[in-house]
Amino acid sequence: MAPAPPDRPWTVAVLGPGGVGGLLAGLLARAGHRVVCVAGERTVQALREGPLRVGSRQFGDFAVPVEADTALREPADLCLVTVKHTALADALARVPDTMLATGTVVPLLNGVEHPAALRAHFASRCVVPGVIRVESARTAPGVITHNSPFTEIDLAGPPERLAPLADVLRAAGTRVQVRADETAMLWAKLAFLAPLALLTTRHRRTAGEVRDRHRAELVALVEEAAAVARACGAATDPAQVLALYDSFPPDTRSSMQRDAEAGRPLELDAIGGALLRAAARHRIATPVARRLVEDLGPH
Ligand SMILES: NC(=O)c1ccc[n+]([C@@H]2O[C@H](COP(=O)([O-])OP(=O)(O)OC[C@H]3O[C@@H](n4cnc5c(N)ncnc54)[C@H](OP(=O)(O)O)[C@@H]3O)[C@@H](O)[C@H]2O)c1
Repeated sequence: MAPAPPDRPWTVAVLGPGGVGGLLAGLLARAGHRVVCVAGERTVQALREGPLRVGSRQFGDFAVPVEADTALREPADLCLVTVKHTALADALARVPDTMLATGTVVPLLNGVEHPAALRAHFASRCVVPGVIRVESARTAPGVITHNSPFTEIDLAGPPERLAPLADVLRAAGTRVQVRADETAMLWAKLAFLAPLALLTTRHRRTAGEVRDRHRAELVALVEEAAAVARACGAATDPAQVLALYDSFPPDTRSSMQRDAEAGRPLELDAIGGALLRAAARHRIATPVARRLVEDLGPH
């Protein structure tokens, strides 16, 4: 049964209405919430001139008006942080901490280190880290193409406290699970994502080509990442990670690979760099990850 809608519409700020943020902004606005997209001038202008447009394999095509501004100027009940890690510091300057004095901040970035930056910017109690499983891209300012037939969000924190938030996200159409352990949640995602991102980007090949032509390197990297994740508190089984990797459609390309192909900045430090830093803290050898990060890094 669908969860009951909250007793009043929420004011939801979406910092970075791109692939992830734009999809969620559209779903929440469609569900009746007041959505304020916080973005740069070009995207703000596009969203003020026309509706947010979503083309979705899961939800169909729809267009919905949202508000847009270059900064959050009113208190919000919820702020979704959905910029890339490379833009996080600049983007946070658009959301004064006072605007979330009583609201909740949910970052959905990949990586494991951003919650600390967010807790330094906002009151630490209001930051509820999440991870999202989805494939969605911003094809033009305010235009979103959602390619996966699923939109799944994990949130970390006490279930009773997160129940209203989970209900709002579920009523908008996403699948939500509440996890007890934030570190385990973030590392479980990174242990899978880091091998996929680093290998597809380094070899400029699809996931299918990587698992066929670079199997030994893939297995070694998955084992390294799983060892680091386990040391950080996530019970990660490399065999399960490999099985998940093998279950992906062969033509899967990672978002880091798409960023590289488009000449955009890579989330290399948030994904590969974070893996190496945690490995160093726990004295775990990660020669494959180190070489790939060096190969992909600035030369
Ligand atoms: N896309 C996916 O399918 C997916 C899946 C799982 C996880 N993730 C993770 O989710 C995070 C967001 O990824 P994404 O693919 O949604 O990124 P994206 O499509 O590039 O969207 C990022 C958004 O941030 C905006 N932005 C950039 N700099 C900004 C600034 N200084 N101030 C305000 N807004 C700014 C961009 O504005 P413009 O529109 O003006 O460019 C864009 O709307 C990443 O950590 C990614 O790894 C993505």
